[in-house]
Amino acid sequence: MKITLADSSPLLNPEFVFGVATASFQIEGAADSREPCIWDTFCAQPGRIKDGSDGLTACDHVARWREDVELIAALGVDAYRFSVAWGRVIRADGSINQAGLDFYIQLLDALKARNIKAFVTLYHWDLPQYLQDEGGWLNRATAYKFAEYADIVSRAFGDRVHSYATLNEPFCSAYLSYEAGIHAPGVQNRQHGRQVAHHLLLAHGLAMPVLQKNAPAALNGIVLNFSPCHPASDSEADIRAADMADQYHNQWYIQPLMEARYPELLQQLPASEQPVIAEGDMAIIAQPLDFLGVNYYTRTVYRANTKGWFSDVPPTTPPLTDMGWEIYPQGLTEVLLAMHRRYNLPPVYITENGAAMPDSLQHNQVADLRRAAYFEQHLQATADAITAGMRIDGYFAWSLMDNFEWAEGYAKRFGIVYVDYVTQQRTLKASAIALRDLFATRRAK
Ligand code: NOJ
Repeated sequence: MKITLADSSPLLNPEFVFGVATASFQIEGAADSREPCIWDTFCAQPGRIKDGSDGLTACDHVARWREDVELIAALGVDAYRFSVAWGRVIRADGSINQAGLDFYIQLLDALKARNIKAFVTLYHWDLPQYLQDEGGWLNRATAYKFAEYADIVSRAFGDRVHSYATLNEPFCSAYLSYEAGIHAPGVQNRQHGRQVAHHLLLAHGLAMPVLQKNAPAALNGIVLNFSPCHPASDSEADIRAADMADQYHNQWYIQPLMEARYPELLQQLPASEQPVIAEGDMAIIAQPLDFLGVNYYTRTVYRANTKGWFSDVPPTTPPLTDMGWEIYPQGLTEVLLAMHRRYNLPPVYITENGAAMPDSLQHNQVADLRRAAYFEQHLQATADAITAGMRIDGYFAWSLMDNFEWAEGYAKRFGIVYVDYVTQQRTLKASAIALRDLFATRRAK
């Protein structure tokens, strides 16, 4: 199994950054050495996680991080993207947990020693429960707490970090967590979803100058998820529905950053469902970015519903991943170029891309050929956007290893490394070997 790129592919440029990504709650475990977070609470509620699992042990990464760094190094990547668990670093009483900071500092030092660039995400959804008890992201004060947390972390990490992302996919922390209710803390309330989105963006805007001051040499920015929104038919109503979905799910997060305003759709919402926006907030949010992280998995199809809003049409056309998501690589080129045309973007990194597949370990091997093909197609889609004139500086595969897939538990495997959750043994899947070989050919050039 090989992942092949054309000899002339811009991705073979030695400056292009290849990496793998993870997130704290999904891999770390060691829950007893950090504060509980909203996902611990959520996992403890019956019925919230499909397989009834939790993040107490996960991939046991806190105990096995040395082995995991060797694994990352063996892949020959240029970069590793991971997140910091807020509650491992700051205790409920506000004091600093030095042991928690030291865990990440050791990890950063080990990466540096192997010449692997560290891309650190400050918030990948594991809000400390002690902040949730004060209202969480519905409370404006949480945005200010986030800036303090960013200050503590970026001062402690010094120059070990190549790039900081403030937030990962605020759409998920707002929409999935507060409107759809399928992510922690499991709230279903439209106004709350929009208010949380606003406070998250505010948190980003308050943290950016802190990062620029403490880590002036780092690439500081944010990671957003994008999915092209396509109409279910060519009826005017469905086309309009898809456009509304695009405003609501995609532009809602990027437009405030780039243009200091929300999409027009906001004006069409009843006043009671609009977020409260304080004077000056939009200017705080629209800080210049050193980079924009783009996470891409699939496209989404929408139809108009009777409430004048949009409903998604679940995909049925194969090939689908184990998440039931359509494999639609051209959608990556589409969202990238659409944004490139619309906004004056900073350099872009694809900070996540990957697929869950029903993998099985046989004779110590995992023949995940469909995942390898997924990567090849999406790398090609990334190259197409570069060829069309866009600046894209890197690509991260999601994920380094199988891990806790949020409401889906451990049943969905996104890793390029297989994790046996009983023994915690890691095994390179065929896709990992194919990526490793691709990275090696690039270095040989
Ligand atoms: C995006 C999230 O950032 C990551 O945590 C998650 O595992 C993947 N998507 C796959 O759903």
